Amino acid sequence: MTALVSATGLTKHFAVRGGSFLRRHTTALRAVDGVDLQIRSGETLGLVGESGCGKSTLGRLLIRLIEPTGGRIDFDGHEITGLSTKAMRQHRRAMQIIFQDPYGALNPRMSVEDIIMEPLLIHGARADAATRAKVAEALRLVGLPARAAQRFPHEFSGGQRQRVGIARALVLNPKFVVCDEPVSALDVSVQAQIVNLLQDLQKELGLTFLFIAHDLSVVKHISDRVAVMYLGKVVEVAEKHAIYSAPQHPYTQALIAAVPVLRPQDRARGRRVRIAGDIPSALNPPSGCRFHTRCPHVMPICRVQEPALTEPAPAHHVACHLVNPV
Ligand SMILES: Nc1ncnc2c1ncn2[C@@H]1O[C@H](COP(=O)(O)OP(=O)(O)OP(=O)(O)O)[C@@H](O)[C@H]1O
Ligand code: SF4
Ligand SMILES: [Mg+2]
Repeated sequence: MTALVSATGLTKHFAVRGGSFLRRHTTALRAVDGVDLQIRSGETLGLVGESGCGKSTLGRLLIRLIEPTGGRIDFDGHEITGLSTKAMRQHRRAMQIIFQDPYGALNPRMSVEDIIMEPLLIHGARADAATRAKVAEALRLVGLPARAAQRFPHEFSGGQRQRVGIARALVLNPKFVVCDEPVSALDVSVQAQIVNLLQDLQKELGLTFLFIAHDLSVVKHISDRVAVMYLGKVVEVAEKHAIYSAPQHPYTQALIAAVPVLRPQDRARGRRVRIAGDIPSALNPPSGCRFHTRCPHVMPICRVQEPALTEPAPAHHVACHLVNPV
């Protein structure tokens, strides 16, 4: 299958002010730091990793909601990095995002109809009967009654608001949708409904999803392939069943397996820890392999040489010196 979205050496460094009051300086926070990733047409690629590892930043970069510091993005056969705002317009409607927070993402003063219509108006439509019909169709797609159009966000539950957020993202007929933790803020009881809705919509409309989530069981349910991020890097990408049943990277193993990474001192005491230590700062990431400060298999080379993302098995990419010895 061909790639709809492709990132090559994609990088986002945020300038962060630091230092003391008298010695202020700016440091680069390396939120996304040289990511190569392909998202195939029609698939759901799950994106997992600890909080702060750069998942949302990567998702926003791919649809150029934020500008990269370096690297290249190709969308639907065109390089979109560096395109002017005007040149981006024709691609923009094809790439949309669904946010985590259905409360914060919707303007409380706008009716549901106006919320869903807004992207159409931004893209040059008039607020006429044909445009209203598109809004009604979007409401139908997400399982909301036509009368919901005249209501306001506060009149809805969290799950219903997320349906409005999905309708807003889909009304432009996108090809690619970044779903950034779309169910994390919802009650567990409604999470499955929204996940199932997204799956149905994907099939019906032939969408391509980047599905970002903390919850590995949700990612397992919805994804075709899964990418694992650690501190601004993609460390493993493979088919879902390969990631869950035969993870190659020690970080993925720690994330996926109920069996956590064992530190030698804990192993001696028979104690199990989830993943040893805290995630290091993206302001000053560890040298070599960024996971070396927490990896139970760390070797001398890991501290000095960054492992490249290689393909030890077909369609299974891993960045680790254990898997690909130098
Ligand atoms: N606008 C910004 N300015 C400065 N730093 C930022 C900005 N946005 C994100 N960051 C930093 O970039 C890093 C990656 O953030 P990001 O939100 O992409 O992580 P995440 O994996 O989505 O985390 P979470 O799981 O908590 O949503 C973090 O260290 C974060 O603090
Ligand atoms: S490269 Fe070394 S430190 Fe990094 S995950 Fe592999 S074994 Fe661990
Ligand atoms: Mg995030």
